[in-house]
Amino acid sequence: MKIKDSQFIISAVKPHQYPEDALPEIALAGRSNVGKSSLINKMIMRKNLARTSSQPGKTQQLNYYRVNDMVYFVDFPGYGYAKVSKTQREQFGEMIETYLREREPLKLQLLVIDVRHEPSKDDVLMYQWLKHYEIPTCIVATKADKIPRSKWDKHIKMIKTALEADPRDSVVLFSSETGLGRDQLWDVITDAIGY
Ligand code: GTP
Ligand code: MG
Repeated sequence: MKIKDSQFIISAVKPHQYPEDALPEIALAGRSNVGKSSLINKMIMRKNLARTSSQPGKTQQLNYYRVNDMVYFVDFPGYGYAKVSKTQREQFGEMIETYLREREPLKLQLLVIDVRHEPSKDDVLMYQWLKHYEIPTCIVATKADKIPRSKWDKHIKMIKTALEADPRDSVVLFSSETGLGRDQLWDVITDAIGY
């Protein structure tokens, strides 16, 4: 994928702020700090377009980035941050569930997991939601550069088992540090948006 243009569009708090041009959307969910924003930056080859939040758990918006007038990346707030209040957690759940249920342009959900660790309860719950709403999903196991190559297979297997992953869902091993998996993930994305 040749990136000609990428722009930050909006931090949307309410559905009426979501873009209305009906371009396909690729959304990213995952734990706080797992590397969602870094993944977007790597995909579009920009160092710092997707903001890495200094206050984890505070941001409750969906951040929209448009690439080549072709697709949006939609960066979800990270979940699982301990200091988040119950009210915030509920708001997060509501916003994400509404988005997954109603957002017509959503073509693919990336579930971003740290390849080093067993998926959390929240990861499993998120994956079950995606299955429940029949959202096409790609599991992205990121930070691959943090474990030796010899362990990649074992860790991918551990993640698939913990999530009870649907064998039809693609799994991409990724690193925002080295660019591993970038081309493969672009293939999955262009497939999903019929490009
Ligand atoms: P929230 O927005 O708080 O939910 O976090 P996030 O999921 O957007 O994570 P972010 O991209 O901000 O990355 C968190 C930290 O992990 C940063 O210090 C990144 O530099 C680091 N990081 C992200 N991806 C990778 C990776 O593939 N390899 C390595 N080594 N570090 C990574
Ligand atoms: Mg982020």
